[in-house]
Amino acid sequence: MDDLNKKHIPVLVNEVVELLRAAEGGIFFDGTVGLGGHSAAVLEAAPGNFLYGTDRDIEALELTRERLAGFSGRYEFFKADFREIESLPIEIGKIDGFLFDLGVSSFQLDEPGRGFSYSQSAPLDMRMDKEQSLTACEVVNSYSYRELCEILKKYGEIGGPVKIVEQIVFHRKNKRIESSADLKEIVRRIYPRKRTMDPLSRVFQALRIEVNRELAGLEDFFIELFPKMKTGARIVIISFHSLEDRIAKNALRKGKEAGLIEILTKKPITASEVEKAENARSRSAKLRGGRKC
Ligand SMILES: C[S@@+](CC[C@H](N)C(=O)[O-])C[C@H]1O[C@@H](n2cnc3c(N)ncnc32)[C@H](O)[C@@H]1O
Repeated sequence: MDDLNKKHIPVLVNEVVELLRAAEGGIFFDGTVGLGGHSAAVLEAAPGNFLYGTDRDIEALELTRERLAGFSGRYEFFKADFREIESLPIEIGKIDGFLFDLGVSSFQLDEPGRGFSYSQSAPLDMRMDKEQSLTACEVVNSYSYRELCEILKKYGEIGGPVKIVEQIVFHRKNKRIESSADLKEIVRRIYPRKRTMDPLSRVFQALRIEVNRELAGLEDFFIELFPKMKTGARIVIISFHSLEDRIAKNALRKGKEAGLIEILTKKPITASEVEKAENARSRSAKLRGGRKC
């Protein structure tokens, strides 16, 4: 348990358990099980709780199955994208609370071989699901100039991506850009010093989102989920950057306009100063919740 908490500290755990009303008992769905911090808290909240979970990362699910050994028979996990929930043997209309803790886990970011981070050199991979074929290396080396500009703008929110893309295209003509260190060097040549909004982290964010299609159809997925939820069921979405938060906010607003959702968080819930001091990752977390009318 402790070991996994070192690999990924779950954010806003008490707030999640409270908003899901997990202590009142029920059936829950954790779309982003990761290392199971939230799943464990939901299962702990009441002895009769049952939890369905999905994650695209088989390694994370395997570690989490060990972590949750004490809850045997009370959970069922699927290696799947949560956007595929309808193809899974889960009765959506019976779920009392849905959780989506978006993005990547610290476990994925810190695993040296996975190439999510530029703090250590690794092959440019960035796949949550190692069975998919598209890697960050493919994106960097095979996307056109225009496609690269588009993803850096859209997913990295880099206003002027031209210089970076020009350098990428220039370098890859001679030699494939294979590692996170290669890419870091290219970006650092243009932006040598770390700024408040470091373009380097924006480039890595954009690639990660593209490789994993993290935002594709996400707003529609939530909007299409609302009518299928049972009355009173809760939904909690935790985001870590503005693109994700905008999607969560818009989806809940549209759910409200359609008379399907009561918004439970007028403003997004953020971590306390204590949590922020203990877990740097929690500083960017925003939690939004709703209840099916
Ligand atoms: C922020 S972590 C979740 C951490 C988890 N709540 C915990 O307590 O350990 C996000 C996880 O969601 C997974 N993930 C991201 N998008 C997904 C999707 N569309 N479907 C399934 N899993 C996804 C990632 O592989 C990662 O393990």
